[in-house]
Amino acid sequence: VTRSLAAAALKPVGLTRRVYLFRFVVLVVAIVVIAVGHYLTDAGLLGIRKHSLHSVEYLLNFLPILLGALWYGLRGGIATAVVVSILYLPSVIGPLGTSGVLTTTERALEVIVYGAVGIITGLLTDRENRRTRQLLRASEELQKSRYLASIGQMVSIVAHDVRNPLQSIQLNIDMLRMEPGGREGRAAAIGGIERSLALLDMLVRQLLEYSKPAELSLSPVSIRVLIDEALDVLKSRLNSISLHLHLEQPDREIRVDSAKFVRALINLFSNAIEAMPSGGDLKIHSRFLENEGRTELKLLIEDTGIGINEADLERIYEPFFTTKPNGTGLGILISKKIIEAHGGKLEITSKLHEGTTVEVQVPI
Ligand SMILES: Nc1ncnc2c1ncn2[C@@H]1O[C@H](COP(=O)(O)OP(=O)(O)O)[C@@H](O)[C@H]1O
Ligand SMILES: [Mg+2]
Repeated sequence: VTRSLAAAALKPVGLTRRVYLFRFVVLVVAIVVIAVGHYLTDAGLLGIRKHSLHSVEYLLNFLPILLGALWYGLRGGIATAVVVSILYLPSVIGPLGTSGVLTTTERALEVIVYGAVGIITGLLTDRENRRTRQLLRASEELQKSRYLASIGQMVSIVAHDVRNPLQSIQLNIDMLRMEPGGREGRAAAIGGIERSLALLDMLVRQLLEYSKPAELSLSPVSIRVLIDEALDVLKSRLNSISLHLHLEQPDREIRVDSAKFVRALINLFSNAIEAMPSGGDLKIHSRFLENEGRTELKLLIEDTGIGINEADLERIYEPFFTTKPNGTGLGILISKKIIEAHGGKLEITSKLHEGTTVEVQVPI
């Protein structure tokens, strides 16, 4: 019996070996201490009359049985019940036994109750453990299938995003082949091809940026330079938008990966611009804050665009979530990844039909 307990103790299922050994030792110590207590009182060594202690001893024995069953299941419950009963019996029927307190039938009943408690608790524990294992396996499988589904989703989205510009390129090539009337037709076809290539280029770049770990090469740069560079890239799309820049200490230098940081800003500014197709205000605020002894750059990007409804707001951090016909659904994620690589955070709040605010915080 002890060997089988020890074997159970050495066979960790989910728990560490150390915990198992610890439990085993606790169990053995409990059994030994309680048994020694029996014999000492039986032998009159504690100066207490045996029969007054009987119910206490009887109840105390449940402790190791319950522990054995809870920790080692059915096998543990039976094993401890058997060990406890064997150790308990001499004290009630043996030469030291205080016969007369209980009848033999009563003792037999007590031992049977020990066994029953060990078996029932052990069975319940085993059932519980089986269920836990089943749940664990089910959740692992769910995770795996979610992962596969997300890969499948990604592939189908990317395939779709690639196919559109490819078809447009094919169409324009066909037109060129049919030798369209004069220069204008040719220029239009070539323009179409170029736009499709730019779209493909952007998709590939965003996919790479999204999947690559963000390794930073830090250098000192001012917030003014970062914002100017980002706006410069987007200047052709800013026509109908009035820009409001409020930069506190615009020339104070911070250490960031400027190429990546500019990329993050471009994505966020693009979203703001795309949210205001018929014009609006783009406000960019920046200031330096002291937060828990550290200096942080806080950047607010506010637009007065279409806003994001509540259901979409929960999904904007999902890869490939987009509400735009030519969107990739990677812009926010790439920005977030870059900001987080700098130890910062990015939060987006929005009100439908009113506008969206992106808050970026970066420690410097
Ligand atoms: N400033 C904004 N105003 C309104 N909606 C926004 C804004 N920024 C992001 N969104 C919403 O979040 C989605 C995901 O944005 P993003 O990750 O940049 O991908 P994409 O711009 O390619 O769609 C957008 O499709 C849009 O629905
Ligand atoms: Mg975007």
